[in-house]
Amino acid sequence: MSEEVAARIRAAVAERGPITFAEFMEHALYGPGGFYEHPPVGAEGHFVTSPHVHPVFADLVRFAILDAWEALGRPEPLRVVELGAGDGTLARGILLGLEAGGIATDYTAVEISPGARERLRALPLRVEASLEAVPPIDPGVVLANELLDNLPFRRVRWRGGELVELRVGVEGPRLVLVETPCEPELAALAPPDLAEGEEAVVPTGALALVEVLARVLRRGYAYLIDYGSAGGPAGEVHGYRCHAVLEDVLEDPGSADVTAGVDLGLVAARAETLGLVHHGIVPQWRALLALGYERWAQGERARQADLLAARRGFEAVRAWEGRSRASLLVDPAALGRLRWLVLSTPGLPVPPFLAEACAAEPTG
Ligand SMILES: C[S@@+](CC[C@H](N)C(=O)[O-])C[C@H]1O[C@@H](n2cnc3c(N)ncnc32)[C@H](O)[C@@H]1O
Repeated sequence: MSEEVAARIRAAVAERGPITFAEFMEHALYGPGGFYEHPPVGAEGHFVTSPHVHPVFADLVRFAILDAWEALGRPEPLRVVELGAGDGTLARGILLGLEAGGIATDYTAVEISPGARERLRALPLRVEASLEAVPPIDPGVVLANELLDNLPFRRVRWRGGELVELRVGVEGPRLVLVETPCEPELAALAPPDLAEGEEAVVPTGALALVEVLARVLRRGYAYLIDYGSAGGPAGEVHGYRCHAVLEDVLEDPGSADVTAGVDLGLVAARAETLGLVHHGIVPQWRALLALGYERWAQGERARQADLLAARRGFEAVRAWEGRSRASLLVDPAALGRLRWLVLSTPGLPVPPFLAEACAAEPTG
C-alpha cells in the first residue's frame, strides 16, 4: 500500500522539485493508500483518542453541547456537525445520550476518509466529505476532536539569520527534508524569536479550515479539541504506528500517522479576524472536571463498592478497570493535556462549563 504513496511523492518531487510538507501529508495521510484511507484509531489500530478511551468522554462532551444548546434557546432539532468524525465512536455516544434525553438531533459527520465515511453510514446521521459541502449552520454546534493536528501543515527553520522552509525532497532511495527559501506569507505566520536551527510548524490546514468554519457557522458554537499550545511553539512533528511514537515520519509514508501540536492561539486569532468570537482555550482536564467528571467518578466508586458488598467481584473489577482507564482523560500528563478551543458567532455568552473551567485557570 505505502509503496504506492511513496511512488506518488517521488513523482511529484521529480516533476516540481521539493514539495511542501503539507503536500507530503496530503499524500501520506489522505491520498489513495494513505494512512487515513481506513480508520486507524482504536485499541486494534495505531493509536487511541479520548472517545475510544471511555464512553464517559462522549457523555461529558454532550453536556458541553447542551450548554451551547441552552445558550442558543434550545432549538429543535439540535444541529451538531462533527468534523473528522473517524469511525463514529464519539458521534454514537453523543447521539445515544441526546436520544435518551428526548432531544431531537440533526447530526452531520464530516470525514475526508472514504473508509471512515463507510463506517459512519451505519449510524443515524448525515455524512459529508468536506465542511464546504455542509449547508449553513444556523443555529448549531460544530465539534472536532483531534482533527486540527492532522490537517496538513508547513514547516520552517531559523537558519543563518533567516527563515527557511523545510520541504520534502528525494535523496537516492530516501525522502529527506530540504531547506528552501521561505515565502513572506509563510514567514508572517511563523512564531517570532526562533533560535538558530530551531524549527516550527505553521498550521496552514487548520487556518484554512477556520476560514470555511467562519463561512458555514452562521449562529452557534465551535468546540475544537486538540493537542498543542494556547499560543507559541506547540510541539514537534512526530508519527504513530502500532501505538508507538515515530520520529522519522518520512520513512514509509502512508504506513503511519503524521502530526504536530497546533498553536491554538494562532487559530483563535485567525477566527477573530474572520468575525468569530474566541471565548477561551482550556486544558481538557479542566474542561472535563467542569463538565462533571468527578461526579461521574464518585458514582463509579460507589457502584464498585456496592458490587463488592454484593460479592460480585468480577463486575467490581470491571468497574475499577473502566474508571482507571477513564482517568487518562483528566490526567494532565496524558489525554488531559489536550486543549479545548471554544469559538462562537458574535452575541452569544460564554458556555457555563467554560466559564467554570476558566475561573480555575483563565488562559489554559
Ligand atoms: C486523529 S483522527 C480523529 C478521529 C476522531 N475524531 C476521534 O477522536 O477518534 C482525525 C480524523 O480527521 C479526519 N480528517 C482529516 N482531514 C479532514 C478534513 N479536511 N475534513 C474532514 N475530516 C478530516 C481523518 O480522516 C481522521 O478520521
